[in-house]
Amino acid sequence: MLIDIRNLSIFADTPQGEVRVLDRVSLQIAEGEIHTLVGESGSGKSLVARAIMGFVNPNWRIQADRLWFKGTDLLNLTAKQRREIIGVDIAMIFQDAARYLDPNTTIREQLKEAILDEDVKATFWTRSKAKDEYARNLLLKMGVKNYEQVLASYPFELSDGAAQKVMIATAIAHRPHLLIADEPTTAMEPLTRAQIYRLLAQLHQRFKMSILVITQDLNTIMQETDRITTIYCGQIMETGHKNTMLTKPLHPYTDALNYTSLVQTENLKPRDRLKTLPGIEPTLQNMPKGCRLGPRCRYARQNCIMRPEITNLKEHSYYCHHPIREFENSKNKGENS
Ligand SMILES: Nc1ncnc2c1ncn2[C@@H]1O[C@H](COP(=O)(O)OP(=O)(O)OP(=O)(O)O)[C@@H](O)[C@H]1O
Ligand SMILES: [Mg+2]
Repeated sequence: MLIDIRNLSIFADTPQGEVRVLDRVSLQIAEGEIHTLVGESGSGKSLVARAIMGFVNPNWRIQADRLWFKGTDLLNLTAKQRREIIGVDIAMIFQDAARYLDPNTTIREQLKEAILDEDVKATFWTRSKAKDEYARNLLLKMGVKNYEQVLASYPFELSDGAAQKVMIATAIAHRPHLLIADEPTTAMEPLTRAQIYRLLAQLHQRFKMSILVITQDLNTIMQETDRITTIYCGQIMETGHKNTMLTKPLHPYTDALNYTSLVQTENLKPRDRLKTLPGIEPTLQNMPKGCRLGPRCRYARQNCIMRPEITNLKEHSYYCHHPIREFENSKNKGENS
């Protein structure tokens, strides 16, 4: 297992007191898979990524049974040890790539800076030229044909799609084992969006890179992803292979998300809410007890105020007292009797 997170909780310090922003999140990412984490805005997707990267607000309290990367517990490392792992083995790309590129330096300089000396086989005096070559190659692999022009540009001169490709090139310059893509395409045209996801899928195949995709836009990634995990208000709802999640979800939340992605028009903006369920998401200070979906779930019953335990099926798991089929079964029985 590349990533193995068990019962990760993050407690945020707010003026109203401490709130549990992530509630016992478990997530496993296998070597070589594309895993998609999907949920409404504010559900905690970016926080999960930040917990892996070690970017959580230092005033927030983190608790976990394990937060493992390749068998090493990231929580037991010193900041320096952690930076060494993150710097080489895990890379992250963000939604608004241009904001993370340095506005004052050319793409050539930024890319060359991301390339380590050991990435290129060169002597001291040929190194700069070798890195130049490596940078051109990286951009070519990203499908950037006018790479000379892009290399000479400053970030503001690039389109969103081109900036994102540069960001990906920077992130994968030294072949990380895990690439975390946090809503890498939300602000883009549907065509560019599909292109970026296809690019990620190619990188995954070519370099056997594992990828964690964070998105609200299941449609575009559906073809490329292997497994899907749904998250709501800081609680994991269900995990499974994409076909299972699409055609036989057991959790009402996954079912609602599927329905939404079928009916929703393509252009979700970064802060848009998925119109999945009746009602609105509770605020952090007013999280429902037990299963946080409870008040918005049409299958909810009294015992949902107790947090459901995980149910593990074959390569499929969920947290729900009344999974869809059980309910349908009992409904059918009721109708027959
Ligand atoms: N710096 C912060 N201060 C206070 N609350 C925060 C902060 N960062 C995140 N949160 C809260 O933590 C929760 C999870 O946020 P997170 O950014 O992980 O959501 P998300 O699923 O990535 O949403 P989006 O789809 O909008 O990016 C939200 O309720 C958010 O309001
Ligand atoms: Mg986010």
